[in-house]
Amino acid sequence: MNVLIVGGGGREHALAWKISQSKYVDELIVAPGNAGIANIAKTVDIPQDDIRGLANFAEHNNIDLTVVGPEIPLADGIADYFAHRGLAVFGPTQAAARIESSKVFAKEFMRRFHIPTAGFLIYDNAEQAIKFVEEHEFPIVIKTDGLAGGKGSVVAKNIEQARDAIVHMMIERTWGDSGKTVVIEKFLKGTEISVLAMTDGDNAVFLQPAQDYKRAYDGNKGPNTGGMGAIAPHPLFDDELRQITMDEIIMPTIEGLKYLGSPFKGILYAGLMITKNGPKVLEFNCRFGDPETQVILPLLKSDLLEMMLFAIEGKILEADVEWHNKKGVCVVMASSGYPKRYKKGYPIAGLDRGKTDSNIMVFHSGTTQRGDTIITNGGRVLNVVGLGDNFAAASRKAYSKVKQIKFEKAFYRFDIGSAYKKR
Ligand code: AMP
Ligand code: GLY
Repeated sequence: MNVLIVGGGGREHALAWKISQSKYVDELIVAPGNAGIANIAKTVDIPQDDIRGLANFAEHNNIDLTVVGPEIPLADGIADYFAHRGLAVFGPTQAAARIESSKVFAKEFMRRFHIPTAGFLIYDNAEQAIKFVEEHEFPIVIKTDGLAGGKGSVVAKNIEQARDAIVHMMIERTWGDSGKTVVIEKFLKGTEISVLAMTDGDNAVFLQPAQDYKRAYDGNKGPNTGGMGAIAPHPLFDDELRQITMDEIIMPTIEGLKYLGSPFKGILYAGLMITKNGPKVLEFNCRFGDPETQVILPLLKSDLLEMMLFAIEGKILEADVEWHNKKGVCVVMASSGYPKRYKKGYPIAGLDRGKTDSNIMVFHSGTTQRGDTIITNGGRVLNVVGLGDNFAAASRKAYSKVKQIKFEKAFYRFDIGSAYKKR
């Protein structure tokens, strides 16, 4: 088969790495890819949001399957358009992707189908939203309805922060139309777990549960980021929690979307808060997580592409889903200043050293090639993954590689996986 992957971040590098090992692959192409992806696949310079361009490419190059990484093309209807052109795609339709692309849709959906989530109200008027938060206890959570690159949710600790968030979202429109309407929801206490399920629209299988380290600095301090690291499998997601999550969250979501006439095929990602009253959904995503995928896929023994083919054919329960009995730790190396302002264009050294250790992998996010040199090209630059029999060993592997890689003003967290070192 000829496979096209859409996207150019660490998630897509991990997808390309895993799919390139499939027994079904003849040619693998990634659009637009990055400097790391270019080492293992052909890359083609078509942006992720050029849906027509991607479809033309797929048609002219006999692509048998297109795998979509990011949420934006899915929210824009890439799966519908490809289907209309008779092209096979792994990823949900625009209507099913609303579970991520509209928080208002997702929250109302969860209320209607009794899926556990935080209590909420919806506002499309800034003054009324401010009046509500003024009369409410803190912390409180304010979210843009639409996509905001993972930055549309604010946990406000006091009235100033809540007001600021509402003004940014609804009046200044920092996130454009995404902030026209907001969801204001109850703050939940607990442990966060990222749970990804692959679904064929009727049934689902879990991938390994992961923890995403969203905050910029050690000890979960500092601003939210796109993710500074991840570990898997999450040690707190035990068999009981797994069953409850499948029965009360994943299956009702799949059935609800099917009932609404928009069945979901692809990766259904539930961001859960494990509260003292059980798991509750913080958000749904309609795709693989980033950086979770970078640590989940190296643990997968089975053929990912084969699993995707089973999902597309409506037979996900027949897929072989085997995992290596290992732990994974992914450390993100970022540019100084991220998630705010940062500079690009610094040469990266040390990528090739120690290349032969099969327990170490480096997936690129924001990198590009200039002549013979790979240079930084984004806020998050590299994802360094270590595998081991326990989290201490996996973490040692990851950080041993991180220390070999040098670029000016690199910054990363030192504590990814350290809470679970005894496991
Ligand atoms: P979201 O974009 O909905 O995933 O939210 C981003 C982050 O905000 C989550 O990963 C949580 O850390 C935090 N968050 C979102 N909703 C809540 C909530 N209801 N209670 C506590 N924290 C939340
Ligand atoms: N790691 C969070 C996300 O992919 O949205």
